Amino acid sequence: MKKYTDIIAENRAWAEEVFAKIDTKMSAMTLRSRNKLPDGVDENGIHLDRMQTNPTWWCNGFWGGLNCMLYDYTKNEEYLKTAKASEKLLDTGLAMFDKIHHDVGFMWHLASGGLYKLTGNEGSKARNFFAANTLAGRFVKGADFIKAWNTEAAYSWSIIDCLMNLPILYWASEQIGDDRFKRIAMAHADTAIRTHLRPDGSVNHICEHDRETGEFVKSHAGQGIAPDSSWSRGQAWAVYGFVISYIHTGEKRYLDAAKQVANYFITNVCDEWVPRVDFRAPNEPVYYDTTAAGCTACGLLELAKVLPENEGGAYAHAAVKMLRALNERFADYDPANDAMITHGTVRYPIPGVYNEKQAGVHISIIYGDYFFTEAILKLLGSDYFAW
Ligand code: GLY
Repeated sequence: MKKYTDIIAENRAWAEEVFAKIDTKMSAMTLRSRNKLPDGVDENGIHLDRMQTNPTWWCNGFWGGLNCMLYDYTKNEEYLKTAKASEKLLDTGLAMFDKIHHDVGFMWHLASGGLYKLTGNEGSKARNFFAANTLAGRFVKGADFIKAWNTEAAYSWSIIDCLMNLPILYWASEQIGDDRFKRIAMAHADTAIRTHLRPDGSVNHICEHDRETGEFVKSHAGQGIAPDSSWSRGQAWAVYGFVISYIHTGEKRYLDAAKQVANYFITNVCDEWVPRVDFRAPNEPVYYDTTAAGCTACGLLELAKVLPENEGGAYAHAAVKMLRALNERFADYDPANDAMITHGTVRYPIPGVYNEKQAGVHISIIYGDYFFTEAILKLLGSDYFAW
């Protein structure tokens, strides 16, 4: 297997070409959608604005985060202006405490955490600390997990997505030199290893726990087809999430967990390098989720970087295969259309429960664009690490 550095060098020209198209598209879009919190697009290809419908929607930080990383690489001030505008819009949600959930990491760490990194702005830092505190406050001691959602049923649930919210806790501890936040993050990551990670390297989406002892009670289907199935974006959150916990802590158990899930993901995606929504769903109908590919590619590229040379290449190779497949089959670089990566899917449709439209099958979602761009920037050697 080739080395990670050889794979990066071989794909450099291709990644430059792709990034030029991303930049052309995004520099038009950053002006057009500056005063929105975009998520999907409407039937005319125009960004929907979650600010109008749901200021605490979990995806509301991706636009600010995307603009931060584009500004870091290009130094185009328009991206910075949009990131700042986005942070202001997010303030409405920050004040809605009873509506806030565990996704404050996705929201503020990408937008305000990014702006603080880029500009040193104290207001951005304060917002990120506030968000980190609300996340720490969701920790269920004894059961040792961070409560994701606010419904009563979810009081005893941990969900795999939460691994991607832990970076804001690591950040808070790194900022103030007090490990309280980091200890919560690690306790949650350890619970994920104990209850979400299965022996074959796949992960449960939702785990129900006994709230006193933390004992695993059962898994729930969540956004996959069944409790014991394998929702590909959940696997993606686990690949990248465990790598991130390794990067912040140096604890080998997180690296081992990331490798286990990565190996499982690669085995299941390697026929066409575009993940199905659920790796254990029937072959027909074909439902893809391109967002799972973008996020996993980011995780694999970080994994490749931290592993020894003779181990990392396989992960970088798989990341490039997925990114090339997205670029060839599912990328719209026309600056006239707001969405870029097509064929993201919110959840697996279940007959009689969610039809394809309700399940958000094959739509463009802002985090699809976010992770694809982040992965291409990694191939270009960007050291901007949002997590
Ligand atoms: N975190 C929610 C999702 O991945 O759809």
